[in-house]
Amino acid sequence: MNLPIILALDTKDIAQASSWIKATNGSIDHFKVGLEFYLRHGVSGIQQLRQVGEFELFLDLKLYDIPNTVKGAVESVAALSPKFLTVHASGGSKMIKAAADALPNGSITAVTVLTSFSEDEFAAMGQRESIEVTTKSWAGNALAAGATSLVCSPFEVASLRGISKSATLITPGVRVEGDDLGDQVRVMTPKQALDLGADFVVIGRSITRMWDGSDLKMRNKIEQIASSLR
Ligand code: C5P
Repeated sequence: MNLPIILALDTKDIAQASSWIKATNGSIDHFKVGLEFYLRHGVSGIQQLRQVGEFELFLDLKLYDIPNTVKGAVESVAALSPKFLTVHASGGSKMIKAAADALPNGSITAVTVLTSFSEDEFAAMGQRESIEVTTKSWAGNALAAGATSLVCSPFEVASLRGISKSATLITPGVRVEGDDLGDQVRVMTPKQALDLGADFVVIGRSITRMWDGSDLKMRNKIEQIASSLR
């Protein structure tokens, strides 16, 4: 049974990330490695994680630079065969196309407006449209330029599904009953997000904070999430 869950390995510690993979790899086969882990351990850190078990890699590097520099950056991680590699949609069509061309066997995943922005902060950056309108236009632009997946809030899934039937939609910001919200403000349950058209939910702390040195609590948490999806 593989669940439509991408587990966020938000840690600087290779041994910790390896333990989380080992504990959950029976039911989760997609893991997200972000800047916290990657900037410390790089390609060889991910190669070490791959020794633990087989999994699909969501490499969350949120690339943003001129097209030629992004092309080089993507080439530097292409040998890791990420299934998903994130770039900022705001980098524009040429940057996204350069990334997509450099990763022919993986999916360039566009991150639209960061969910940490409030409307006021967004407007203060000189943006004239609302976050919702901008998200939709950046998403459409990214897909036209060669991205085949999008990271979005569960609250944007329905509207983005409206502009693309085929894009893979990946949503963080989900919580099940009894979870801490942490720093997430607006959340949905994984079932709500998937029912609205998300393909995967990204879950971090709800699962990883269950780690106590043995696999049991993490596995129980995943079982709770799995049963909430049925
Ligand atoms: O621990 P939690 O479930 O909140 O982790 C969510 C993961 O998704 C983190 O790795 C976080 O960086 C990422 N993320 C997010 N919201 C976004 C984009 C990414 O929470 N808008």
